[in-house]
Amino acid sequence: MTHLKGKDILHGNQFSKKDIEAIIKTASNIEKELKKKDALTLLKGKILATLFFEPSTRTRLSFETAIQRLGGGVISLGAVESSSVAKGETLTDTVRTVSQYADVIVIRHPRTGSAKEAADAVSIPVINAGDGTGQHPTQALLDIYTIYKELGPLKNLVVSMVGDLKNGRTVHALVEILSLFQTRLYFVSPSNLRMPEEITSHLKEKGIGIVETRDMMEGALASDVLYMTRIQKERFTDLSEYEKLKGSYIINKEFLSKLKKRVSILHPLPRVDEITPEVDIYPGAAYFRQVRNGVFVRMALLALVLGKIP
Ligand code: NCD
Repeated sequence: MTHLKGKDILHGNQFSKKDIEAIIKTASNIEKELKKKDALTLLKGKILATLFFEPSTRTRLSFETAIQRLGGGVISLGAVESSSVAKGETLTDTVRTVSQYADVIVIRHPRTGSAKEAADAVSIPVINAGDGTGQHPTQALLDIYTIYKELGPLKNLVVSMVGDLKNGRTVHALVEILSLFQTRLYFVSPSNLRMPEEITSHLKEKGIGIVETRDMMEGALASDVLYMTRIQKERFTDLSEYEKLKGSYIINKEFLSKLKKRVSILHPLPRVDEITPEVDIYPGAAYFRQVRNGVFVRMALLALVLGKIP
């Protein structure tokens, strides 16, 4: 069905439409199974290692939840200061070591390309949970699963991506997957946080319709999905620049009242000020459902790369 067995998960562009359909189907089956029982046993005896060199709440905890709900176990590097990384061990040596213990590695690291480096150093599957401003493919998979669940068939959707499109790795991965489904895209950002040119030109080559604008309302009125992102403070070398740009886009009740139809609002989280808490009760506010979907999608992915689903 898919060719994901034994594969690394590194980049949003590595998936075919068939892969995405298989992941959605598997996640959906797992979600149904979990309504009947607390846990499955598909990955009994398997060990997942989580190596997080940058902060994380959802990605690490949902992977750790996912492996345990499949009957497997987890080992975790913990804070960098408490491991040999603090003694100057290279990333390659760290992952080589961990691959002697685990069956699959999930890694988040501030350097773009680091997950690929890690994957090249070991023979077990490596999953990129965010490499600097590069990619975050498993977030994109849970995003697409959420869009599918909220809106049904993925064809011909209009999606607005709002915020820090320059530094946001989640949008960099998500556009690759959306481009498989003839999505039309609005890129809404301040002019110095635009989607990198290499990404927009490659999408245009694929025939994807793109509108770039600074006006969130223009995107929102045309869209089925509003994908909000945080301005990525940690990527700014000049914090005064961040101070100028933070708060550029905020969805609040007043903004919602101007929309003509229900829009699905997604956010990879954490939010800073992009969505006010009053929006949480809006029926289209999908970001906490999105969090939950992350567990099913990561369960599906682990089962697929470890070859436990045909
Ligand atoms: C995102 C990330 O780490 O890139 N968070 C996540 O994994 N849900 C988004 C962000 O930090 O803004």
